[in-house]
This record gives sequence, structure tokens and C-alpha cells, in this order.
Amino acid sequence: MLKIALFASGNGSNAERIVRYFSDNKLDISFIIVSNRSNAFVLERAKSLGVPSYFFGKESFENGEVLKMLKENGIDGIVLAGFLLKVPDNILKAYPWRIVNIHPALLPKFGGKGMYGSRVHEAVIAAGEKKSGITIHYVNENYDEGQIIFQADCPVSPDDTADTLAAKVHELEYLHYPSVLESLFGGATN
Ligand code: GAR
Repeated sequence: MLKIALFASGNGSNAERIVRYFSDNKLDISFIIVSNRSNAFVLERAKSLGVPSYFFGKESFENGEVLKMLKENGIDGIVLAGFLLKVPDNILKAYPWRIVNIHPALLPKFGGKGMYGSRVHEAVIAAGEKKSGITIHYVNENYDEGQIIFQADCPVSPDDTADTLAAKVHELEYLHYPSVLESLFGGATN
């Protein structure tokens, strides 16, 4: 069995869709959900989904406590879904090529520290971009700079706001993130 930790800091709509996508046993896989915010809605979602969940403060990611928990749970890989902390070195080193992130824009543009959620969409609109989209990529020591695995785009209309653009991007995320993970996980179990 493949054991995956989903890291999420907030709402967790992607995390929920990923868990539901794999709930038909198409792969032998189980999830835990890990958040750095005690009041993150993703922790409520975990309860409703019946998925074990963990909250850890920022320092526990840095000092190895989270890594210890991942190892104790036999976690094989990590999926970031709206996770806003930088993944610390201790976890990066323990999971080389085993940590995947989704970014709500077409990297390498509009990435980097502080670029998350609506800030990304505001920057895309302010730059007058005609297209935005999603980037699924491996995670390395620099924010949003790991090797790109998959991108999909959507048009940016002149009347788009950060909210309407976020809705378009979320649709792309829901459509593609679970199936891209399926091919990665499928490869990992073969
Ligand atoms: C998603 O759009 C994800 O791409 C983005 O946060 C949102 C989380 O939504 N991630 C980043 O901006 C990371 N830089 P969700 O909590 O509803 O899945």
C-alpha cells in the first residue's frame, strides 16, 4: 500500500477531491492530512472523510517532529494542496522526488515567496496576462522552482477579478490534480 500525506493550510478543497478520487480503490493507497493551522477547514474535511489528520505548528516542521510522524506512519510521498509554509530541508532530504505541489498559475511566472491564493490571481490580472492556469511540479528547496510535471491553462477575461479567476483555476485543479497524481502514484507502485 502507498501512504500519502496531504499537506494543506486552509480550505482544503483540493485535498478533499484527491481523497474522494482515490476512494474507489483504483490504487492501493491511503492518506493522512497534515495542516500547519489548527483552525484550517481542511481538518474538518478530514473528519467528514474519515481520514486521520494532524496539526503541527511551524516549528514542528523545522525541528524534525513532523518528519518523525511521517516516518512513524510509513508515509511514502507528500502532496501539497494549498500548503503555505516552505517545506523544510529535513523533509525535502527524506523525500527526494516524492513531494509534489500545485501552483495556481503558469510557472515560472507568478511564483515565489508570498505568492499564494488570491495574491497570485491579483498579480496575473495586474500584469494584463491573457492566460493563467495551473502548474503541478516537484518541490525543491526554492519556492515554486522544482521540475514541472504538468500545466493546463485557461483564458483571463478583461472583466475577471481575483475571485472569478480563482474559480476558473480551481476547476482546472479539480479536473487535473487527482489524475496527474494517479499517474505518478501508479508509476511509484509498479
Ligand atoms: C489552490 O488554488 C492552490 O493552487 C493554491 O492554494 C489554493 C488552495 O485551495 N496554492 C498556492 O497558492 C501555493 N502557492 P484549497 O485549499 O481549496 O485546495
